Amino acid sequence: MKIELDNNKVIFNINQNQTEIHPIWLRERVGEEKFLDKNNNQRLFDPSFLDNINIESAHIKNDILELTFNDGVISQFQISKLASEFLDSENLLNTVKQKIWDSSLKNKPTFYFKEGFYESKEMYELLKSFYTYGFIIVKNVPIQNNYIVQFANSIGSIRRTNFGEYFNVKSVPNPNDLAYTSLALPPHTDNPYRKPVPCIQLLHCIENEVNGGFSTLVDGFKVASYLKDNNPDFFEILTKIKVKFKFTDKDVILENDGQLIELDEKKNLKQVRFNTRLDYVPILKKEELDLYYRARRKISALYNSEKFRIEFKLIPGDLMMVDNHRLLHGRTVYDANEGKRFLQGCYIDHDSSEGKLRHLKRKLNL
Ligand SMILES: [Fe+2]
Repeated sequence: MKIELDNNKVIFNINQNQTEIHPIWLRERVGEEKFLDKNNNQRLFDPSFLDNINIESAHIKNDILELTFNDGVISQFQISKLASEFLDSENLLNTVKQKIWDSSLKNKPTFYFKEGFYESKEMYELLKSFYTYGFIIVKNVPIQNNYIVQFANSIGSIRRTNFGEYFNVKSVPNPNDLAYTSLALPPHTDNPYRKPVPCIQLLHCIENEVNGGFSTLVDGFKVASYLKDNNPDFFEILTKIKVKFKFTDKDVILENDGQLIELDEKKNLKQVRFNTRLDYVPILKKEELDLYYRARRKISALYNSEKFRIEFKLIPGDLMMVDNHRLLHGRTVYDANEGKRFLQGCYIDHDSSEGKLRHLKRKLNL
């Protein structure tokens, strides 16, 4: 990779491919004090008004590129910084390699809470593991009522919902959600009816005296990849049809729609949704629905099979963080007469975890 000059043009040269860098692309990145607020890195000018910008003279010395623009602005650029932006190498999430897993996953990514945890290298490693595996477990988190709120807000900002800032998971009479019973909960993603769907669920175990009530997790991306390899027609229809999800209680009606397997613009897996108590597929041609229902039956069987599920017991002080766009979670049945089972949960969004990850990398110089 090299930056070269050719007659006042700035050329970016990578693997023998040459691209001229647009003068406005450079002009909007001028970093001198007059143009950039040093406290917040926000521009003190509006580049959307720039027009007819040209480079009148250009010089390179070591890592510095000095440009004089035709509007009189003279600016110095750090070449390595321009290059890292050009190559997108500062995109931290690109450097985290996702590992998809099934029931053969040997070691759950586990961390131990300690003094100063939130600003520590362990927190940085935790967040990287979270993006690698789609979940992490922290042990020895203080067993205090509502502590989950403090934990969540130490990463970013809690995502409040109509269940409140946080929710208590224990069996209650007349529950407005199956989570508040002692029934088994098959693997599901939370709140696909919300707009946008909450990104990350945090669950903190305060009490657990029952024999059952194991937590279950399934890597939805692993199952989707398996389906793509083994039943491509099922995979395709689940990536195509948008299903409506709906939640109703006495105060609110929430609705959102999306594919059971959503892909991004590069056809990579972006998000899975699965909650068969709340999904309503639109009316389509009978043949199409026939394929859809067979595909849903298949993916449901895969999500519920032992091949893909891990199962473990949360003990008091354990806190689990789950990517609700990638993993499914559930729990096994328990007998509420055996004792107490009390978990507290809340949501945060990916901008919290990503923002914290970048912050810690900068702060700890990692
Ligand atoms: Fe849930």
